[in-house]
Amino acid sequence: MVSRLLSGESELPGVQDTKVPLLNLKEQNAALRTELDAAYARVMQSGQFIMGPEVTELETACAQLVQVKHAIGVSSGTDAILLALMALGIGSGDEVICPSFTFFATAGCIARVGAKPVFADSCEACFNIDVANAATKVTRRTKAIIPVHLFGQAAQMDEVMALAERYSLAVIEDAAQALGAGYNGHSVGTMGTFGTYSFFPSKNLGGFGDAGMLVTNDDQLAEKARLLRTHGAKPKYFHKMVGANFRMDPIQAALLRVKLPHLREYSAKRAANAAYYQQRLCALPGVALSDGHHCNKRNAPNQFRGKVALPTVHGDRCHIWNQYTLRVQKTGDWKRPESPRDALRNHLGNKGIGSEIYYPRPMHMQECFAQPGPNPILPICENLADEALSIPVFPELQREQQDYVLETIKEFLNG
Ligand SMILES: Cc1ncc(COP(=O)(O)O)c(C=O)c1O
Repeated sequence: MVSRLLSGESELPGVQDTKVPLLNLKEQNAALRTELDAAYARVMQSGQFIMGPEVTELETACAQLVQVKHAIGVSSGTDAILLALMALGIGSGDEVICPSFTFFATAGCIARVGAKPVFADSCEACFNIDVANAATKVTRRTKAIIPVHLFGQAAQMDEVMALAERYSLAVIEDAAQALGAGYNGHSVGTMGTFGTYSFFPSKNLGGFGDAGMLVTNDDQLAEKARLLRTHGAKPKYFHKMVGANFRMDPIQAALLRVKLPHLREYSAKRAANAAYYQQRLCALPGVALSDGHHCNKRNAPNQFRGKVALPTVHGDRCHIWNQYTLRVQKTGDWKRPESPRDALRNHLGNKGIGSEIYYPRPMHMQECFAQPGPNPILPICENLADEALSIPVFPELQREQQDYVLETIKEFLNG
């Protein structure tokens, strides 16, 4: 029987009743209503709507959280990447390596500073940049590498840092999806030259609009980034360099300060939901943990021949589960002619369950990055784009809702 928990407003086209949304922000924010209202009123009464103490306080809290010297509040996760590239002086004639299987902002920012994004393949196991493949892309023009900590799990940072050191590359960690995630005891975002975070509402620390944070342990780069954040001016109206308006709104900072103390709890609940999926899903025929392959076993082909591979969690990483992403394998033993991933997505949608494809087209296949001649072939990214499907894992998800998702997946597998 479908209970109260399984009903809600529809967010899916053509579906009257969304039983399990992909994300439920209303519930998370309603729990903090009184404090959020007070923070909002505080900013209104202060009359300060650009920068000021709310932004500084959030910067200090974020720096403490991830144990970094400088945190710089900015207008979005995208602008954090852009600002990092600008502070590093990367531009025309330079190349920057990034994974092709990522959100557009990673690559778009490289192009926006006039540099060339050079795309690397991804790891079968953790979906993050394949560092061995990235190493083959280094040229004398390469200035930086941007590993992305996709879905909330760190990229293989020891190897990224070793590659960067070998070729004197800057490292910008795109941790938009991974604030609070760890790698060998380090917070993601703090191992490279710069780290960038997003507070887009769907992130583990989701704001009330756009906002982001740039972090670094480098004093000079921090100072330069702070200047560039406000048109490169110091003092006001005297411009040392050409920057832009990358400022974070104090209203965002004030509201995020209310939510920040809850980040650990949000991520722990996501992790508990992910663990429940892992345990219950791998009991289904044709479903398995994709542990068989590990980032360190690069070139070991994907051995898993089942239908659905579950996300890999590496022991050296603290995963914060911004997404719980299945691989609905094309090579599986399906009776369906169409894409099994799309078929599962439709089936979930028909049953009122939200899901999303992050991401349907890798960056090297995007029209805006088309180069003369054939596209590079990045087979793992291309498979991931055909197979990845993220299902609800948000903190407020109830066991009853998860059981309904599990039941619906089982029904699909048996169909
Ligand atoms: C991997 C990645 N990089 C960058 C961004 C950009 O962040 P924002 O949306 O805050 O600009 C996102 C946001 O979804 C992201 O997922």
